[in-house]
Amino acid sequence: MQDEGAVGGTALELAMSLTTMGSAPQGAERKGAERGGRDAEISKVTVPYLLEKKLLRQAIVSVTAYDYASARMVDEAGLDVLLVGDSLAMVMQGLENTLAVTMDEMLLYTRGVRRAVRRALLVADMPFGSYQVDEREGVANAVRFVKEAGAEAVKLEGGRERTELVRRIVGAEVPVMGHVGLTPQSVHRMGGYKVQGRTMPAVEELRADALALEEAGCFAIVLEGVPRELAKMVTDELRIPTIGIGAGPDCDGQILVLHDMMTMTFSPAAKFVRRYADVAGVMGAALEEYRRDVEARTFPGDEESYHLSKEMKELMAVGVG
Ligand code: KIV
Repeated sequence: MQDEGAVGGTALELAMSLTTMGSAPQGAERKGAERGGRDAEISKVTVPYLLEKKLLRQAIVSVTAYDYASARMVDEAGLDVLLVGDSLAMVMQGLENTLAVTMDEMLLYTRGVRRAVRRALLVADMPFGSYQVDEREGVANAVRFVKEAGAEAVKLEGGRERTELVRRIVGAEVPVMGHVGLTPQSVHRMGGYKVQGRTMPAVEELRADALALEEAGCFAIVLEGVPRELAKMVTDELRIPTIGIGAGPDCDGQILVLHDMMTMTFSPAAKFVRRYADVAGVMGAALEEYRRDVEARTFPGDEESYHLSKEMKELMAVGVG
């Protein structure tokens, strides 16, 4: 039986920190490690490992996460890449688009995720304004993600116009993931979130962008919101892996926004989203049950309460103090 003084739970988790990043988790056993299987295959996803996966035609599995608890679940489920996406502006901060999120906010979320992740490759999204204005600043911001938040790579949006920046960031030893097609930071230029690459010139532009990013040194490219046929063509043309979102099944890997796939959003899902769980439904029901229990005074019960020792109760009964 647990000592009534012991708190356990969250407090134990604090044994893990940035400084223990490379070592096995202390105190808490990892489900994945116990399970063997997938985790037994490799202990750490790296950039070269993802390139190898493409060569071996093994699918790369990726998802976004923004906080310690969900990042830990992602990592323990054996996913390859965890992206701290700037989509957090919308799903975590309730903003209308991704444009307002700042470097400091992205660093804060990335640090929380870093403490949870052991196996997956941790990629941080460079927010709007952190690399578009000045390339020197872009390199410095990419370095901040590694130095101040423990990211292992950064992602940035755009095609040929970003190749010099990509070269410089990679030259500073920070691996870069590209992102072309529907690029949410270009929402105003695109006139909304629209599928890209549907005309012949747009197809050619996108192919040229992807090839230029590969040439500049990207280790992978996100293809978002493009027709399946175009995604396949680009995937076949590139040596580096493509990670699709709304780009069909022929990409080398897939990524989804965690809140979309778990139904933690408040609007209908886009066509490309598959709902793997109804977290909003489960949480909503649990919260209503909790509200009913508290109102009916059935929570907490006696077994959920701390007690004085027998001696203390006796002392108090005779009115000591
Ligand atoms: O910010 C994000 O979540 C992304 C993914 C959709 C790729 O960029």
